[in-house]
Amino acid sequence: MLKNRRIMYFCQISVLISLLGGCSVKTPHLEHEQIVTVPDLTPEEIPVEEQTQDIIEEPIDNPIEKPIEKPIEKPIEKPVEIPLEKPIEKKDEKPEVNRFIVGNPNDVLVLVNRERFLPRDYKPDLASFPSGYAINDKQKLKPEVVEAFVSMVDALKEETGLGMFATSTYRTYEYQENLFNRYVSNRGYDEAVRISALPGSSEHQTGLTLDVETIAGNMFNFGLTEQSKWVDHNAHRFGFIVRYEAQFESITGYKAEPWHLRFIGDHSSAVYESKRPFEEYYFSIGLK
Ligand code: DAL
Ligand code: ZN
Repeated sequence: MLKNRRIMYFCQISVLISLLGGCSVKTPHLEHEQIVTVPDLTPEEIPVEEQTQDIIEEPIDNPIEKPIEKPIEKPIEKPVEIPLEKPIEKKDEKPEVNRFIVGNPNDVLVLVNRERFLPRDYKPDLASFPSGYAINDKQKLKPEVVEAFVSMVDALKEETGLGMFATSTYRTYEYQENLFNRYVSNRGYDEAVRISALPGSSEHQTGLTLDVETIAGNMFNFGLTEQSKWVDHNAHRFGFIVRYEAQFESITGYKAEPWHLRFIGDHSSAVYESKRPFEEYYFSIGLK
């Protein structure tokens, strides 16, 4: 195509030269020089596309004025009116608890749980532990409970060669209050109430309850020990029950605590054999 055009230009020039007459032109691009006779063309006959090809585009002197672009004005931002919100309910706020105060705080079978509270100032008569049976000499429980615990630890030693000791025993209302509040601070209210009793509703205030652990471990891993297995199946022989079991959380209100032992005296074997939580036994024998 380009070659053809060149020929055409050449011819156009030749046409001008040959206005005087026809011409013979050499076509330089031909491999073998040939004499070609090109027909004469008038300028009008040059194809339009060829005529415009060499027009150099000059810059336009007066370019069309672009309309000045006005910056779009931002609408003035009105302050957003935030509707008054209901006060956000804090999760850790104490919900109203239905406080039933038990009428038999001195009974060995007294049922204390999330709904059943001891009188705030209830304090049983207490006795200390013989040396080696508790973590320190401040630990105290009702005398018959200390006696039963000593018998149980002696039996554990005799039957398995293992040991354990009391680590948390009687607690005052105020002590429990501090303990509970610490759980709330560390874990939030919802979690705290699954692992710690509200003040006034802890069995520890009865003087009938203790937590145990072993020399090698601590309270929270007691459930993994051989001592715990033994306790699960033998504590009832000494008047104790493992009070909080995982499968009964919906009834007891607490997560499993293999270390928390409650003394209920002569009723312990019946509760152990029932394989049901103490709550059910308590009501089944007509207690209120
Ligand atoms: N950890 C038990 C539920 C208590 O605080 O008495
Ligand atoms: Zn406990």
